[in-house]
Amino acid sequence: MSRLGMPLVNQFYRLFGSKSERWLARAALRVDAIRYHEAQAAKLSDDEIRHQSMRLRGRARGGETLDRLLPEAFGLVTEAARRTLNLRLYDVQLAGAQVLHMGALAELATGEGKTLTAVPAVYLNALNGKGVHVATVNDYLARRDAEWMEPVYQLLGLSVGVLQMQMQDQQRIKAYRSDITYGMASEFGFDFLRDRLRIKGQASQGVPFWEAWQNPGSNGAAKAGESRVQPEFLHYAIVDEADSILIDEARTPLIISTATQQASPEEQVVYHWANRLAQMMAFNEHYTFDHKKQKIELTESGRHLARYANPPVGPHSHAMDKLFEHVERSIFAHVRYHRDVHYMIENNKVVIIDEYTGRRMPDRHWRDGLHQAVEAKEGVPINKQSDHAAQVTFQNFFKLYKKLAGMTGTAAPNNREFARVYKLPVVVVPTNRPVIREHLPDRVFPNEEVKFTAVVAKVKELIDQGRAVLIGTRSVEKSEALSAKLTAAGIVHQVLNARQHELEAKVVAKAGEPGAVTIATNMAGRGTDIKLGAGVAESGGLFVMGTERHDARRIDRQLAGRCGRQGDPGSAQFFLALDDELLEALGAEKQQALIQEGQRRPIQSDRYRRLFDVAQKRMEARHYKQRIDLMAYDRHRQEVLKDLGADPYVD
Ligand SMILES: Nc1ncnc2c1ncn2[C@@H]1O[C@H](COP(=O)(O)OP(=O)(O)OP(=O)(O)O)[C@@H](O)[C@H]1O
Ligand SMILES: [Mg+2]
Repeated sequence: MSRLGMPLVNQFYRLFGSKSERWLARAALRVDAIRYHEAQAAKLSDDEIRHQSMRLRGRARGGETLDRLLPEAFGLVTEAARRTLNLRLYDVQLAGAQVLHMGALAELATGEGKTLTAVPAVYLNALNGKGVHVATVNDYLARRDAEWMEPVYQLLGLSVGVLQMQMQDQQRIKAYRSDITYGMASEFGFDFLRDRLRIKGQASQGVPFWEAWQNPGSNGAAKAGESRVQPEFLHYAIVDEADSILIDEARTPLIISTATQQASPEEQVVYHWANRLAQMMAFNEHYTFDHKKQKIELTESGRHLARYANPPVGPHSHAMDKLFEHVERSIFAHVRYHRDVHYMIENNKVVIIDEYTGRRMPDRHWRDGLHQAVEAKEGVPINKQSDHAAQVTFQNFFKLYKKLAGMTGTAAPNNREFARVYKLPVVVVPTNRPVIREHLPDRVFPNEEVKFTAVVAKVKELIDQGRAVLIGTRSVEKSEALSAKLTAAGIVHQVLNARQHELEAKVVAKAGEPGAVTIATNMAGRGTDIKLGAGVAESGGLFVMGTERHDARRIDRQLAGRCGRQGDPGSAQFFLALDDELLEALGAEKQQALIQEGQRRPIQSDRYRRLFDVAQKRMEARHYKQRIDLMAYDRHRQEVLKDLGADPYVD
């Protein structure tokens, strides 16, 4: 055991619980062997490295187990990374890579270098030619990671492809045929569903579904291989930002519909009628709102109003009950769905903004008439609800992979869910160097106005010190409101939100310069790597300001994790107000009372801070329940469809 290996093993034993500890110890034991092979590889020329890689490939395809090939493969890829990227994998990264290969979830702190940590595991598992998928939270990160790591794979003779949201089928097929495919998690899921829908289309021409699925060309409609974009067997996936994808996003299923078309005039009438009524109705008088269930209900007087407001008749003359539901949905669209928070209007279309990633989701639609209600509210053309939809939950989709692994900086609060739902044990990998980020205590203000004023004052102070500042906001709307305040104060800054998404890479690249100020929605909340400009580290590094707390503690920690990376200095602080969205979880009355209290007397941060923790815990519990319900619903749905002999994913 070398000088490097032994302390590592000891450290792992000392710090972590039994299971995590065993896995890590096992990984640490092999670091020496990997380093040995790395040293051997260092003596080779580039051509010889490629040659060596081909030999490993042959051995993997000849049936040698990947576990046996691991030390050699990892050694070779480590040397390839050093040559091409000028980054030498740390011991902890080599341990993390083994954890990924074992099919577990590696928790490596933010900024520790997970992108590179994945590479040995990806390489090893791609050797047998069955395809490795690396899933992440957004298009930008998928492209960035693929481009960044490509030289390593190239030197080793493997091909890399990337999926992007707006890609055509031909490009997708090409990406999937590569040895390694990077992409946004939902793109992998949507491709799976699109393939199913396409095949369902053929099946409806008289071929039983399962036959069509197993032999897509049997109908003569398309040649085998053409109708399916994604390979049939899903072999190995590494999910980056695993908590975001497997926990946060897993609350809503992926749904894709057959072609959208405009709704008929009769259908439109109903939505417009409901929309007009919704605008006339008053809270508590005509309807009530249950925050916990997120449900609007008409009161007797609301129903009365609807009944006598000329309800539409004709082929779509719904029963009155159905019309009440339409009105309730419309009210919901008015009071709970806000433009530039939950959606944007683009080319006369409603485009959803994902609440966790802050990004446009042009392919997605809300279900059960909600999308149409929002379209009516905004006065844009109303699209038809489609009959056929293919649907899958993230939970069920990722379980289709023969082997699954994950990585994130923030897994801990959800360990049990990862283990139970995904069979992914969480293994905590220590950092390479101690983290010296300072977490300053939250500051609480009576309302947003006062809060923003304090934010502006703080930003000024920080620029004068030559630091870089990243300000996190929860919505496009808030990012723009704060931007106006900074402009008014004469502070030069950049904004990164769903409206400005094209400039993303450029904005991120400059965000670490001395005196740089960047306002960003959740778009920059995960995965972004801000490089510090000259002198910034000396003056204290990047300062991350959160202007609201999010629904889960993990999400806040990710934002804070944009600073203090790789042992750099950095600070994180949250500026909160009593009218923040999060406190709605305490109940509308309670929040109102708090806001009024805040107006009457100066507020002390310590007293109020706890409220935000309580609200956050409540939201976490609520979302957990939604995931459990969704899984039960999905299981039931699949069983019913299977009993009918149909595709369990399409109805
Ligand atoms: N072995 C290494 N040696 C030196 N620098 C490294 C090494 N590995 C990674 N880095 C650097 O660390 C920084 C962070 O890397 P990366 O973005 O992959 O981290 P991460 O763990 O994915 O963070 P996050 O949790 O925020 O996504 C990058 O600038 C990268 O160049
Ligand atoms: Mg990352």
